[in-house]
Amino acid sequence: MRPVDALIDHLKSEVARGKTHVLLDEEAREGLRELFIKSREAAKSSTATSKLSKQAPTAAASPAMLRLKTTATNTATSMPENMPLLKVHGETREESLESLRQQAENWAPVKALGSLRSTMVFGSGSPHARLMLVGEAPGHEEERRREPFVGPAGRKLDDILKAMDLSRQDVYISNILKFRPLAPRQTINNRTPTPEEIASCLPFVLKEIEIVKPDCIIALGVTAAVGLLKLQSSVESMREQWHSLDGIPTRVTYHPSYLLQSEANNDIKRKLWEDMLAVMDKLGLPISDKQRGFFLTK
Ligand code: URA
Repeated sequence: MRPVDALIDHLKSEVARGKTHVLLDEEAREGLRELFIKSREAAKSSTATSKLSKQAPTAAASPAMLRLKTTATNTATSMPENMPLLKVHGETREESLESLRQQAENWAPVKALGSLRSTMVFGSGSPHARLMLVGEAPGHEEERRREPFVGPAGRKLDDILKAMDLSRQDVYISNILKFRPLAPRQTINNRTPTPEEIASCLPFVLKEIEIVKPDCIIALGVTAAVGLLKLQSSVESMREQWHSLDGIPTRVTYHPSYLLQSEANNDIKRKLWEDMLAVMDKLGLPISDKQRGFFLTK
């Protein structure tokens, strides 16, 4: 298979998983430029035209993010039948989470896959939080500091929490995956996890929910939503409604990293904020006129 076909297959599978964007670091962009140049040269010599070469970014205009055609489908994750059982020890929530964290460090199903990196990043925040937020997987910065959401997307999440009059200490923050998906020649770029990778880590986030017993959960982005709720859909069609995760009201919203992308306009920010207002309402948190008015047209 030519590298360009592998890339097309990969992008198709991302679209099928509900992804609308892929982030590319400088190294990945350089790889795409090389592919583009090679396929242009091949096209010149054979007069054949390559579908991707027409769309591939040039050195002069290479977007840091490729926009993919959106479909409202995704691959729901089911737990393999031979998944080992987690044993939770401890009297307190703190102790139970610690026993879970220790098991995550050497979790055999993850090791058996061999497609995830070795640094484990566990959930953080208050074990007594009423609100739990679940993202996709740790990235470069999270791996370095062994804490979820501490990179650029994490700073966006901090801003969102601050606008809700909350801090990281008030909530519990976790990820569907406890390990960063491995990618060839990886630098700071991230890869979307496969359904098998999600399934290998899913018992941990479900146990975290069982231990923390939040009153409300926010699934940040399509991977968290699909992993937790077993739906096959896009964020757009899962948001604006309450889902139930073992009886816990769960809201789906955009991943904070989406707000960092240049194409995320005020409309997306307003929609995310509407989701947060619904969560605040559900938790009975006070909502000021100023908070209600964010993003209202003046
Ligand atoms: N994105 C996530 O989904 N989780 C993190 O911890 C960081 C970035």
